Amino acid sequence: MLAGSAAAQDLTLSLSIYTDAKTGINFTNWGTPGANGAGAFNFGFVLPPDALQKDATEYIGRLQCQSSNASTTGWCGIAHGGHMPSDLLLMVWPYNGHVYTSFRFVGDYFKPSLFGGETGSNGTSAAFPAPVLSVISTAVSTAANTTANASSSFYEIIYRCQNCWSWQQGSYNESVHTALQPGDAESVLVLGWAQATKGPTNPACTGNGLNFGFHDSGYGQWGASLSNATRTGYEAWTKLATQVPNLGGSNDTAASCQAKAAPSAAPSAVPTAAARRTVKVDW
Ligand code: HEM
Repeated sequence: MLAGSAAAQDLTLSLSIYTDAKTGINFTNWGTPGANGAGAFNFGFVLPPDALQKDATEYIGRLQCQSSNASTTGWCGIAHGGHMPSDLLLMVWPYNGHVYTSFRFVGDYFKPSLFGGETGSNGTSAAFPAPVLSVISTAVSTAANTTANASSSFYEIIYRCQNCWSWQQGSYNESVHTALQPGDAESVLVLGWAQATKGPTNPACTGNGLNFGFHDSGYGQWGASLSNATRTGYEAWTKLATQVPNLGGSNDTAASCQAKAAPSAAPSAVPTAAARRTVKVDW
């Protein structure tokens, strides 16, 4: 039994517009309330201007997540199709004054491995090219949380995510649609979010050996309406994504990266589409 999971899943994400002062990108943002070092998960994104007519293959996103304090930094992330199993997962965490990232994948509710297998390059094809993340900016604040400002300790990354709305791993593949589908009144993406109090124990290891725990600070799914998420300035903003992820500083050959934590149970097969539909969706 995972303590606190029911309460965490009941957290409601509220919709707002957040404008990044340095770039002017006005993200459509969904966030949880933060208090006393818990909660305060924010994810916002913008899409290419024609994303409601033609399925987008990419987005510009912002994750901003609260840390409990300067040493309990945490990790947070999203599931690009709403489910933890079988979806393209992106997790991020602060390390060395920067925000590190890793695409992950898992067939069931166990610790996700590196997307694409041991090397991160397997399972992609011409129809499903590998996801590519490039960084616009990162920020880490380790100021102490106070009652007046419960989210002053946080980490933030603004990034471009290419090939992130469809993915393939092994025999499984999935595409989510940003374009309005026949019969639908509006375009809504089901997304998932997760946040953990404790950061990875070997944070320089962005690959398969990354050690991290359950999202004990909240998780769930929500329906992200795309009606107000497209931007005419999208193309110009993509030019700001000039940094390589992790500042090129991941160290997956270090001894600490080779000592993988034993999985909590043997991973099971990727669930069928029908089985995955049984996951409860609240929004
Ligand atoms: C050690 C790592 C992890 C473990 C043990 C774990 C475990 C679990 C479990 C047991 C659930 C179901 C809880 C319930 O039904 O109440 C769940 C849900 C979820 N997890 Fe994870 N998780 C891990 C990492 C991640 C990561 C890295 C992400 C995303 C970046 C993620 C995203 C989600 C989401 C969005 C849900 C809710 C949607 C769903 O049920 O599919 N998880 N996780």
